[in-house]
Amino acid sequence: MTSCTVARINHDALKHNLARVRGLAPKSKVMSVVKAEGYGHGALQTARTLADSDGFAVARMGEGVSLRKGGVDAPIIVLSGFFYRDDPAICRQYQLQPVIHCAHQLQLVCQDKGRDPVDVWLKVDSGMHRAGFDPDDVEEALRALRVTPGVGKISLMTHFSSADDLDDTATGQQIECFNATVKGFKLECSLANSAGVMGWPESHAEWVRPGLMLYGASPLKGQSAEELGLRPVMTLESTLIDRREFNRGESVGYGKTWQCPEAMPIGLIECGYGDGYPRVLSQQAEVLVGGHRAKIIGRVSMDMISIDLRGLPEVSAGDPVILWGEGLPIEEIAAAAGTISYELMTKVTTRVMADRG
Ligand SMILES: Cc1ncc(COP(=O)(O)O)c(C=O)c1O
Repeated sequence: MTSCTVARINHDALKHNLARVRGLAPKSKVMSVVKAEGYGHGALQTARTLADSDGFAVARMGEGVSLRKGGVDAPIIVLSGFFYRDDPAICRQYQLQPVIHCAHQLQLVCQDKGRDPVDVWLKVDSGMHRAGFDPDDVEEALRALRVTPGVGKISLMTHFSSADDLDDTATGQQIECFNATVKGFKLECSLANSAGVMGWPESHAEWVRPGLMLYGASPLKGQSAEELGLRPVMTLESTLIDRREFNRGESVGYGKTWQCPEAMPIGLIECGYGDGYPRVLSQQAEVLVGGHRAKIIGRVSMDMISIDLRGLPEVSAGDPVILWGEGLPIEEIAAAAGTISYELMTKVTTRVMADRG
């Protein structure tokens, strides 16, 4: 092994979490979201493990092409659609289903001269106001798609702004707006992300689009992944590479930001912001070392982190360290970093990606 730092991917946990989606939305087809390299878990490896999915969703055309080239033959939906004139032809070549969310995309797809049908998704802006057609413009967009020879099956979708918060009335309003907009069109629909799957059963429709919950992190505010029956998929692991004793008053790391309040042991971990562990966690988080919690001290540097080993005489160099994952919820680390689990997962850098399976 060339590095102690590994993002270990538990493929059984991935399957378990997909089964959890199926249990919660038994009547819906599941489009597993594997954009951004499967939220940092490896898009192709994730798609292979979740081969039971009814389809996969990516954000960009290139991500879809890579999945196809990798042998995925299930439907692939491109959530951001496309931007360039040649893109409809690429969708046709690789059988990608673009999401059409704006007038420019609609124009491109309607002007395209290809005849083999490309299945498309029309996105409705039901209130998030990021991407999607205004409800008032949906009927006209649909009419344009229906008369375009190169357009195959048309499905409808929307995306929630605040479904993670079960007390927020915005999601109910979005569901109502979407349902009123698409009523009578008799097309397959998709509304629910992970939070929708977990917390808003009335949003399940024909297709659900979970991402985060597949990777075993909680999509709901105030509820842990464990409480929701999810299992962490990625465990960011490393090793304690040194244990040293320091005297009272000695400082540790860049900027000498931490001074030993007493004579004490300090451990050194091979992991840093060069691996995707946020520097903002300097003195803000804990790790699991040899199964025990220990506090980060001093600054997180590019390749190393120092930890306080007081009270842990049994811990020694060579012991395994968990930065997040099994036994140390990623939500806890994300909260300490002032961010969300999505960002931590997707920012793990390539040098630790060796164990995607
Ligand atoms: C359009 C769309 N659908 C579904 C998802 C999956 O969301 P989540 O990871 O919260 O389940 C995303 C992710 O951001 C998305 O952008």
